[in-house]
Amino acid sequence: MDIGEEAGNRIDAIAGRKAFLDGAETQVLGWSQDYLGPTLRMRRGRGARITVGNRLEQGITAHWHGLHVPGWQDGGPHSVIAPGRELEQTLEIDQPAGTYWYHSHVHGRTGEQVYHGLAGLLLIDDSEAADAGLPSDYGVDDIPMIVQDRSFSRRGELRYDDDGMALMQGFRGDRVLVNGAPTPVAGVPAGMVRLRLLNGSNSRVYRFRFADGRAFHHVAGDAGLLPAPLRRTEIQLAPAERAEIVVDFANGHPARLVSADVPMPMMGGGMMGRGGMMGGMMSGNSEASDGSDVFEVARFEVDPGRAARVATLPATLAGAPRPDFGEPLRRRSFRLDMMMGMGMMGAMFGGKPDLGINGKSYEMDRIDQQLRLGETEIWEISADMMAHPFHVHGTSFQVMSRNGRAVDHAETGLKDVVWVDGTAEILIRFDQPARPDAPYMYHCHILEHEDAGMMGQFTVS
Ligand code: C2O
Ligand code: CU
Ligand code: CU
Repeated sequence: MDIGEEAGNRIDAIAGRKAFLDGAETQVLGWSQDYLGPTLRMRRGRGARITVGNRLEQGITAHWHGLHVPGWQDGGPHSVIAPGRELEQTLEIDQPAGTYWYHSHVHGRTGEQVYHGLAGLLLIDDSEAADAGLPSDYGVDDIPMIVQDRSFSRRGELRYDDDGMALMQGFRGDRVLVNGAPTPVAGVPAGMVRLRLLNGSNSRVYRFRFADGRAFHHVAGDAGLLPAPLRRTEIQLAPAERAEIVVDFANGHPARLVSADVPMPMMGGGMMGRGGMMGGMMSGNSEASDGSDVFEVARFEVDPGRAARVATLPATLAGAPRPDFGEPLRRRSFRLDMMMGMGMMGAMFGGKPDLGINGKSYEMDRIDQQLRLGETEIWEISADMMAHPFHVHGTSFQVMSRNGRAVDHAETGLKDVVWVDGTAEILIRFDQPARPDAPYMYHCHILEHEDAGMMGQFTVS
């Protein structure tokens, strides 16, 4: 759905019913459809005028994940759209072409609302990047893939809970859906095809590869193109991370995209989520009944009658953003805490622990940091027990290092989520303001952690 400056573009949060598997229907949420929402396309240098309506009996927000819009348009927890109300806004789009997304962000309910369907893709187009020479025929050789794991009852009803262990490790399902469909098959032309992968799961980490071991090209990260295509055979995506990859189907062979089951790494060498007491293993998509740790995500079938538009990839990508942060003026640190209050032990015995950042659980009326517009900073993020995907609103950042090792921009591109399995340093700057009545958020994007308070908020002025 093209979102230009004209009036009349809208999405409405609605409740519906859907049968995901053969079996029972479940109540789901969606944006103008029964689960998830339409892909919104916005163009750089143009206003995107959109009305968000709420036809549910609960409050929602529309957070534009990854967009550089001011705090009052960001759709964070302070911008709740009450039942029956709507919000019209014009977003000024001025950032690189890329794969972004939108989702509800009501404090304490984000996990549940996104899980039931209040999320969708948002693509930014930019005439500079249009010359990059990538496949770009949407739905034909440019395929959106929202990857989510979900849990179902025996009867096929969607299940969710955010207590106890589900809270501590994040809720994990045992089936993978792509755009709401279990193990989908996509027909593709015999040539280069771009896949826009979004890990839209609440907590699961994927390590994608092709079952036949074929290499592919990583062409974009969270927030725009990489300087040049990067050949890979595997790519890891934590919750909310995106990657655009280009796969060559010229040999006509069908292909299967699979993922390893990535356990939640615990600090000190332990693991969570690998079968057993911690649960969370894939069953429905599993390759083998012995608990093998690879599961299928999607299949591709090549249609020999369809000629590919792109035969070879360019050596470098036109329109890739050049990071330009200048000299950092200060440093801030963020410690992602799981040991506060009742912490881990409390959760094991069924309580609701407080998770937090720098010893504080999120509070709507406390501003945690005050930043200056246009001033570059280094943020150092550390995790005390398990790894977390740390996300910041309102801008894109550059990852400088992880666990003390320098990270090459050419391998990640600009990002808005960083995987913290120890420590990470990012270089960050804000060019949009956020006032105290609608501040920006930083948080863990494991949605159960965010809802339990692993989030903070800040102003930019
Ligand atoms: Cu994708 Cu604060 O969220
Ligand atoms: Cu966000
Ligand atoms: Cu977390």
